[in-house]
Amino acid sequence: MSDADKFYITTPIYYVNARPHIGHAYTTLVCDAVARYHRMCGEEVYFLTGTDEHGVNVERSAVKQGKAPLAWSDEVSKTFRDLFDKMGISYNDFIRTTEDRHKRGVQKLWRQLRDNGYIYKANFTGQYCPSDNLYVDAVGAGEPCPLCGRATETVSEENYFFKLSAFGDKLLDLYEKQPDFITPESRRNEVASFVRSGLRDLSISRSTFKWGVPVPDDPDHVVYVWLDALSNYITALGYGSDDPKDIERFNKFWPADLHMMGKEIVRFHAVYWPAFLMAAGIPLPKQIITHGWLLFEDNKMSKSRGNVVRAHTIIDTLGNDALRYFLLREIVFGQDGSFSFDALVQRYDSDLANGLGNLASRTLTMIHKYCGGVIPTQQGYDYSQHTMAAITPKEFTKYFEAFDFSQALEKLWALIRSVDRLIVELKPWELAAAAEKGDTTSRIKLDSVLYATAETLRIVTVLAHPVLPESTKKIWLQLGLSNIERVSPRTLQWGGLKPGTQIGE
Ligand code: ME8
Ligand code: MG
Repeated sequence: MSDADKFYITTPIYYVNARPHIGHAYTTLVCDAVARYHRMCGEEVYFLTGTDEHGVNVERSAVKQGKAPLAWSDEVSKTFRDLFDKMGISYNDFIRTTEDRHKRGVQKLWRQLRDNGYIYKANFTGQYCPSDNLYVDAVGAGEPCPLCGRATETVSEENYFFKLSAFGDKLLDLYEKQPDFITPESRRNEVASFVRSGLRDLSISRSTFKWGVPVPDDPDHVVYVWLDALSNYITALGYGSDDPKDIERFNKFWPADLHMMGKEIVRFHAVYWPAFLMAAGIPLPKQIITHGWLLFEDNKMSKSRGNVVRAHTIIDTLGNDALRYFLLREIVFGQDGSFSFDALVQRYDSDLANGLGNLASRTLTMIHKYCGGVIPTQQGYDYSQHTMAAITPKEFTKYFEAFDFSQALEKLWALIRSVDRLIVELKPWELAAAAEKGDTTSRIKLDSVLYATAETLRIVTVLAHPVLPESTKKIWLQLGLSNIERVSPRTLQWGGLKPGTQIGE
């Protein structure tokens, strides 16, 4: 299998200290849309998501609930998985960091780093942010975390350290040679300037609590939760296992094509993760792409602030596709964006119910009424130029592949409006009345315009499928077609709909 035929995409693995909100749903559904798109293009996709269950923040949330950390993790991890299932997320694997396959892989990675000479033991005293699981340099006792603003704690213990300081130049070199390694560019600049300011060695173990993966050969220590968590991207594929199936999967899908995440954790992915991999001699992921935050009333939606909107509420009333469409259309990917129920309902009404829904029902109704439920022949009159159907697929795929989902959808909805205008201009109902009276030109025009309408609907449906998997599947079946999951948006061309196709009821 050549590399271009596979596509490995990951979400962050989410902390199990609280139940999911639409921030978590957002990253996961964006990855789902991208994964579906690549499957349609014929690539073998591996789409990974999961939960991050170790560390002091999870342990404390369990204590607060009066539960053992594992029992609490089981419970919360299930709420993530149930939500993603309810959302129809097409993940291939859901990893939990408390699984044996993961712990085994983390320990293998640790040994590899140690054997390669990148781990040493020393005394550590410094500030730690338990919410971000971040060691904060240049912050004194009692000062807040520069990332999240919450209180830091002083940690003083003997730790294992990773020689992160040895990787500054190599990382800068990577960012320079592979400019799209971190996207968008603003994030790359931010990360590069962090690295340029000098990297200190990183504490990668803790000995004052137990909730983590034991350090190999020194069980008094647990592995630092970010080293543990980041490893999920390789342990899920089978790193750490001797089973030939796991080895094959790992070799087939690693390196990852895309790690996606919110901007607040880019440093861990773009600095620590590549440094760990370089030290272990493992190839680097191809791209790290970050998005902005969903805000609610101008603040980052977060479990600690408590200003969260739950995906369930929206899905139960408007459906999965409505949430997906809204977030991909309304939020400019990469930037922060506000969530509002009013905007959601407005988008639903104007773009889904009246836009796509109306086009589909009008088209299918007219074909039933005027063509006996069979796709007519485009005879004599080629109306493809009256719509933007010839150019939209190219524009859509260009924007979609550049993660500009909002623009891609805007182009697609412009196509819907153009075919609406064609219908209004040509008035098929008047052509039908004239044809009824024996006017053959009207009959030919009628068939041609209805062909153009149905063919445009087919093109819209294919392109919208990664974003609106449920409703497009229904429209597709109505058009008398099958297997939309395997129609490539990249090769979509006018004329694919065969005249004579019997449409659904
Ligand atoms: O950071 N807007 O987990 P986490 C947009 N376990 N996205 C949001 C969001 C918001 N308001 N809130 C959360 C962790 N997210 C670590 C990751 S990866 C090896 C370990 C999404 O539960 C976004 O993707 O805090 C963000 O990066 C992620 O949830 C953080 O989830
Ligand atoms: Mg977080």
